[in-house]
Amino acid sequence: MLSQQTIDIIKSTVPVLEQHGVTITKTFYKNMLSKNPDLLNYFNHVNQNQGRQQTALANSVYAAAAHIDNLQAIVPAVMLIAHKHRALGILPEHYPIVGENLLGAIKEVLGDAATDDIINAWAEAYGVIADVFISVEEDLYQKAEENGGWRLFKPFKVAKKVVENEQVTSFYFTPEDGQPLPDFEAGQYITVRVKPTGSQYYANRHYTVSQPSNNNEYVISVKREDENSPAGVVSTFLHNEVNEGDTVELSAPAGDFTLQEGNNPVLFVSGGIGVTPLNAMLQTMELGRNVTFYQSARNEQSVAFKEQIEKKINELNGTYRVHYSDAQGYVTKEDLAPYIQPNTEVYVCGPAPFMESVISIAKDLNVANENIHYEFFGPLMTVKAL
Ligand code: HEM
Repeated sequence: MLSQQTIDIIKSTVPVLEQHGVTITKTFYKNMLSKNPDLLNYFNHVNQNQGRQQTALANSVYAAAAHIDNLQAIVPAVMLIAHKHRALGILPEHYPIVGENLLGAIKEVLGDAATDDIINAWAEAYGVIADVFISVEEDLYQKAEENGGWRLFKPFKVAKKVVENEQVTSFYFTPEDGQPLPDFEAGQYITVRVKPTGSQYYANRHYTVSQPSNNNEYVISVKREDENSPAGVVSTFLHNEVNEGDTVELSAPAGDFTLQEGNNPVLFVSGGIGVTPLNAMLQTMELGRNVTFYQSARNEQSVAFKEQIEKKINELNGTYRVHYSDAQGYVTKEDLAPYIQPNTEVYVCGPAPFMESVISIAKDLNVANENIHYEFFGPLMTVKAL
């Protein structure tokens, strides 16, 4: 239990740290990764380059610290992060390394302003926050192991590689040990770990499982990204170099962006390849629930899963709308209003600006926060979720 004095110090210094956020976090990553290059097996090099992950990790430490006397309030945000950590194989022994380097960076950047009292208070608070993550993550590891699952990564064979269209290729993975696979919920992702040609480190990438749960194989559909951009490293490697019969390593399905039970109407709103988890959820639905699928894609060439969605929506007597943003522009409040009632559960997935806009439209149309469900592809840019 932290003393009131420690809590007061933490709360009064959060704004100062946020003010120096970018410098502290850049220093933190630079120092941590140069002293512990092994961690490059976990951190996404792309997000590092773009400075997004820096912001995400350190900012959420501050946000958690701001709620240090009521950590219960941040459990939903912790869950999202903890699922990602578990999928990547982050372990308790990694936490002191992050803590030591974060405190070191605070000291380095704030200089004399970082008194011993302040540093000690932050060390204590970080310890409390880290313990919350470690214990939530241990629960997730144990759940992942249940029903024939596994804890970290396990080798899978590429049983089939199917080119779906110019941009998207599906991979069918079967476990090399031949064991039946645990069930998963539609909307969950698996994490692929590969060592791209010429790299001495692993690169990890989360992909939604695109086929309903079965105990023999996992299927993912991978969009081809620009091969000259660092963001395309894993996608390009999978498309160009991973073939039927090859081995990749996967962690067990993770994530809590899944369809909630109940009778409320459902509106799925997807942007681009964000359609993948939403389509996976749609495919598990049964007749009786009011459902609308609003799919935004740039144009007819880039719209994915259209026939599959159309077929399922017809079976469910639902509504399907396709929005081509090249011709129609952004999705607006007027576009979505006909499909939103106050008790509608809205599921959103797509690029960050798209999601922010759809979430704010849903709020404007009086959808309660707890009925708006979303998953960012890539790290959270801000601490809004906390
Ligand atoms: C991702 C927070 C500790 C490794 C993240 C994200 C957040 C976060 C907010 C982004 C989640 C998303 O993708 O939406 C925290 C907090 C920590 C902590 C608050 C401490 C209390 C750690 C530790 C490690 C670690 C100890 C391992 C050394 C990672 C990695 C990612 C990640 C590898 C994914 C980054 C990527 O996109 O490549 N963390 N984290 N984190 N975290 Fe942590």
